[in-house]
Amino acid sequence: MFKNILGAFSSDLAIDLGTANTLVLVKGQGISINEPSVVAIQYDKHGQEHILAVGQEAKDMVGKTPGNIKAIRPMKDGVIADFHVTEMMIRYFIEKAHKRKSFFSPRIIICVPYGLTQVERKAVKESAMNAGARYVYLIEEPMAAAIGAGLPIREPNGNLVVDIGGGTTEIGVISLGGLVLSKSIRVAGDKIDASITDYIKKRFNLLVGDRVSEELKIKIGTASQLPEELRTIVKGRDQVEGMLTSVEISSEDIREAIKEPLKEIGEALKSVLEKMPPDLAGDIVENGIVLTGGGALIRGLDKYLSDLVKLPVYVAEDPLLAVAKGTGRALDEIDLLQQTAFED
Ligand SMILES: Nc1ncnc2c1ncn2[C@@H]1O[C@H](COP(=O)(O)OP(=O)(O)OP(=O)(O)O)[C@@H](O)[C@H]1O
Ligand SMILES: [Mg+2]
Repeated sequence: MFKNILGAFSSDLAIDLGTANTLVLVKGQGISINEPSVVAIQYDKHGQEHILAVGQEAKDMVGKTPGNIKAIRPMKDGVIADFHVTEMMIRYFIEKAHKRKSFFSPRIIICVPYGLTQVERKAVKESAMNAGARYVYLIEEPMAAAIGAGLPIREPNGNLVVDIGGGTTEIGVISLGGLVLSKSIRVAGDKIDASITDYIKKRFNLLVGDRVSEELKIKIGTASQLPEELRTIVKGRDQVEGMLTSVEISSEDIREAIKEPLKEIGEALKSVLEKMPPDLAGDIVENGIVLTGGGALIRGLDKYLSDLVKLPVYVAEDPLLAVAKGTGRALDEIDLLQQTAFED
């Protein structure tokens, strides 16, 4: 009874705690926070740390900070690299969502990478409890991605979703509201960016940061041949001469640069298809494969994967928002789903 009264006054939250981006959705209001998972910390002369910025403002500082400031991505490769900073970030985002609307001991569902260890899961839950949550539930990313992509997950009909985020690519086969088969590899946006950085260094003797590589990927990156290839100018430091300089780079260069990580994603997808229970195989042939996560936005990736596995591949609507939307939908059905989709 008391809990029900509390529930009536609280605005529950759904959080997509991603390696690259964190999204917070307030029940009944939609997405209220969508920011990079980056924290800028300043160290004072006593070595004490203070949060200088979180989110976009902090991401803009990456690679540009003086000695006493550090811009940290506390989650890397789909794992928690820095527990303390992750906790600070979770609290910051929950408190920020709080300020938008008065609320009281909310229930919070957090979508976490599939590969998180028990220790990491516990740390995430505790951070949210410390920030004032009444209950914290965790939901796994392939499930949230599938719900967010609008797949009919409850039916006795197999659906395959590939979520390509910043740290991990997660592949899940879902039927009757459960994950039948899944695979997570630590190859996604970040590795793709690092491959571009390496390629530019080798091919053009030019040193650029991963932020620049990410921009190139978004601007001209492609997985398949384009009718008209794209070009842009990239600035950096010449490795040999040490001078600041610029070169012209094409979408063909980027395609060559990202060949390896894309191949690994393709191999992971193939390995899941090879393990597919025969009764679900027919469903996948019929339904095709749905891509979510920011990596789904790489030009021609749907065609690249489709050519590889000889199945239809579709990009979900708003792939960057799919996991947050799916986590939000789970929040709407929290009482219904409690026994099945969540772990305590
Ligand atoms: N238009 C685009 N083209 C290509 N890649 C993009 C585009 N927009 C975003 N990305 C990439 O998508 C990735 C972030 O995706 P997303 O927000 O789904 O990851 P995440 O959920 O934070 O990570 P994870 O699920 O691995 O924890 C980044 O690597 C980013 O560079
Ligand atoms: Mg994600």
